[in-house]
Amino acid sequence: EMVEKQGYAHFMLKEIYEQPRAVAAAIEPHVNPETFSVALKNVGFGGQSVQKLEELDAKADWAKTQEVFKSIERVFIIACGTSNYAGNVGKYLIEQLAKVPVECDIASEFRYRNPVIPAKSLVITISQSGETADTLAAIRMAKEMGATTLSICNVKNSTIDREAHGHLYMNSGPEIGVASTKAFTSTMAVLNTLAIAIARTRGVMSEAEEKELVKSLLAVPSQMEGVLSYDKYFEEAASSLKLFRGFLYMGRGTSFPIAMEGALKLKELAYMHAEGYAAGEMKHGPLALIDERMAIVMVAPTDHLYEKTISNLEEARARGGKVISIGTGDNEKLREISEHYLAIPKAHWTVNAILAVIPLQLMSYHLASNLGYDVDQPRNLAKSVTVE
Ligand code: G6P
Repeated sequence: EMVEKQGYAHFMLKEIYEQPRAVAAAIEPHVNPETFSVALKNVGFGGQSVQKLEELDAKADWAKTQEVFKSIERVFIIACGTSNYAGNVGKYLIEQLAKVPVECDIASEFRYRNPVIPAKSLVITISQSGETADTLAAIRMAKEMGATTLSICNVKNSTIDREAHGHLYMNSGPEIGVASTKAFTSTMAVLNTLAIAIARTRGVMSEAEEKELVKSLLAVPSQMEGVLSYDKYFEEAASSLKLFRGFLYMGRGTSFPIAMEGALKLKELAYMHAEGYAAGEMKHGPLALIDERMAIVMVAPTDHLYEKTISNLEEARARGGKVISIGTGDNEKLREISEHYLAIPKAHWTVNAILAVIPLQLMSYHLASNLGYDVDQPRNLAKSVTVE
């Protein structure tokens, strides 16, 4: 087992540190680093079996994929757990960049709510394992209702991968830790390429914007290395968390699903009560929870929503909440009002989520391992939920 952990104390820690490489591998097939353009490779909408994807005529296959992207009027993203939070980031990306309406739903809700799936819908399922029962049922239902389906899986040739019309891959390599980390960041990278591809195909994004976004995406792996090199600060922040009664993770835009994911990681690993909330909803309830025994974890990168987020943060702080914040670069303001300020490098809003989740993963990891919990296999949880 030690060999496989390559000197890391846990698989989860190893997988957190593998993320820069995993993200690079996720985007590599789809991005041309010379022209800074995107063309999705081997998606296979033509009906090829998963085993034959590698043999596709790249040009013809991309033309077929573009045909699908031109024809769609709606996108649904369906997944469970951490994959669902990646899907929520995808919703912001695809809707804002490609201007197609996107709905993101939890698979167990989607499959039982008799969803209306209009013709010309693209139903995207996200599943690391490709075996999650609810997600599988959702994709089968979407196919029956006439939708075109696209799976984003990590495990090639898994059941969901085989059943989808089109296929994208996380390319993360095997993920052993029950709590998903590298599959999550890889998926957000794939969703970036997908959003750009749909936007360009539909003529709603300029070549210049594509170049800018691709450049920012290509810079992410080395920026992630930078974030990982600050681990000692995340560990330090984690050491102060034991004393809190509860945790409120908040953010706006793509930082909202990151807040949800951060709270999920704390629950899964450290067995502490945490809630993920849209920062703008704070006034509608969570504010009542705040006192000095409540930690506020605010995901506040410098983007178009930053000012709004800061005003939420100040309000929470005024009620006595202790603040841990994630922000961009050397942010004096956040440093001043936070017990712990954790910095990520300056990046485009489309990739901030990939960077901002790393401090949250590591904080939960350190807290749980300091408490002596089994971080690779948290109690009561399974890596893949293949029964309802
Ligand atoms: C389980 C795992 C999570 C994972 C979720 C969805 O709950 O513990 O880490 O996010 O299933 O799994 P999937 O394989 O469909 O992405």
